[in-house]
Amino acid sequence: MSVTLILGLQWGDEGKGKIVDMLAKDYEYVVRFNGGDNAGHTVIKGEEVFKLHLVPSAVFYPEKFKVIGNGVVVNPDTLMREIDAAESRGYSMKNLLVSSDAHIILPWHTIMDGGLEESGKIGTTKKGIGPAYSDKASRTFAIRACDLMLPEQDLKEKLAKIASHKKKLFRSLGFPDFDAEALSAALLKSAGRIRPHISDTQFVLNDAIGRNRSILLEGAQGALLDLDHGTFPYVTSSNTTSGAGCTGTGIPPQKIQRIIGIAKAYTTRVGEGPFPTELKDGTGEIIRKVGREFGTTTGRPRRCGWLDLVVLRYTCMINGATEIALTKLDVLGGLREIKVATAYDVGGRETGDFPLDLPRLAKAVPVYETLPGWGEDISSCRSAGELPANARKYVQYIEKKLGVPVKIISVGPKRDETIQA
Ligand code: GDP
Ligand code: IMO
Ligand code: MG
Repeated sequence: MSVTLILGLQWGDEGKGKIVDMLAKDYEYVVRFNGGDNAGHTVIKGEEVFKLHLVPSAVFYPEKFKVIGNGVVVNPDTLMREIDAAESRGYSMKNLLVSSDAHIILPWHTIMDGGLEESGKIGTTKKGIGPAYSDKASRTFAIRACDLMLPEQDLKEKLAKIASHKKKLFRSLGFPDFDAEALSAALLKSAGRIRPHISDTQFVLNDAIGRNRSILLEGAQGALLDLDHGTFPYVTSSNTTSGAGCTGTGIPPQKIQRIIGIAKAYTTRVGEGPFPTELKDGTGEIIRKVGREFGTTTGRPRRCGWLDLVVLRYTCMINGATEIALTKLDVLGGLREIKVATAYDVGGRETGDFPLDLPRLAKAVPVYETLPGWGEDISSCRSAGELPANARKYVQYIEKKLGVPVKIISVGPKRDETIQA
């Protein structure tokens, strides 16, 4: 029996989709536990590509159970689109399960997300994630997957009550109106399609553990976008850290043996918020171009910068990472020198601890060490021994500074472009 958790150690887009897809062959259940369709996880098999927002990154494995856990917020339209896209390409979604406790994103959430962005920029994906989690926390106006199982009339009445409240709220805020009748009709239609997938997944997963089945938990976003531990308020509205693997699924903490933290060999961020090692120069542009750093969900250019070990030390600590998967190492090829932040100077004082509030973080100036780069294309390397000496040194340097072993090195977007220790 084994439960493994995968999560991003930076600000998202570390390559979680690729690593989950690659490891999924050894697991029977692949489970999303947080976030919603703000996520964009790329999986590639041969020439085939999926950019998944909601369905766990095991779409290429019809026989595996793909579970959307209770901690996820589900946009029914996105879910149906992803089911259709997979099935139209011959990948059955019969084994897709949606937790009865997962909350549903409705059009008023997306309108609200757009409206709130006008008044103060977080740079959200405008998928309604924050408003849906707000309704979850405030309880009164939430719809969950289990509500889609209600008799039609009961669901209609529930929706009408919430719609009337939202309409009043939107009028007072000057947000656009919506057609409550059309919304209700659309949800009733999607309820019919989603219903066969709805399941009490806490029982399903614990039963699987009891039967010695293996489970892979797939985090969305990255640790520094965590609502509690990230760069608040420039974060997402869920917990993205390893604890959410328990609260977002109902799997007890002691059942999780392996926590794989995914780190890009450099750093990226989409949206607003602090980013100490950001490169606003030609080197940042080169990394964006070579690494194709454009958002999977929104297409926005990702901000790029050097690897930040202050960030990684903090995120390895709060997540209990037992190992690291280092991705996109190939992208750094061709740079003469590579810088790595090892500490910050905060108002004249050097620290290795990530500043937890924005005013201190705003003052943080990275202290860099410079390592020699390599010129070779490393995408065909399949063992650490085949890597150029300077690439190997870069990996060893990271391992040593973090005290966590790098067990996977990704040298390209494809499944086989990977080195495993
Ligand atoms: P996720 O959100 O963490 O799943 O990551 P995304 O899919 O949003 O972004 C990662 C991007 O990098 C995708 O386009 C992947 O296909 C690609 N990718 C993943 N690993 C590697 C790698 O090792 N090298 C290169 N060049 N691309 C990679
Ligand atoms: P994956 O799973 C990168 C960012 C948004 C914004 C902030 C809040 O693909 O790594 P939200 O819409 O969640 O309220 O936006 O969080 N963000 C992500 N950035 N990758 C993601 O997911 C992200 N999901 C949200 O850009 O800054
Ligand atoms: Mg992504």
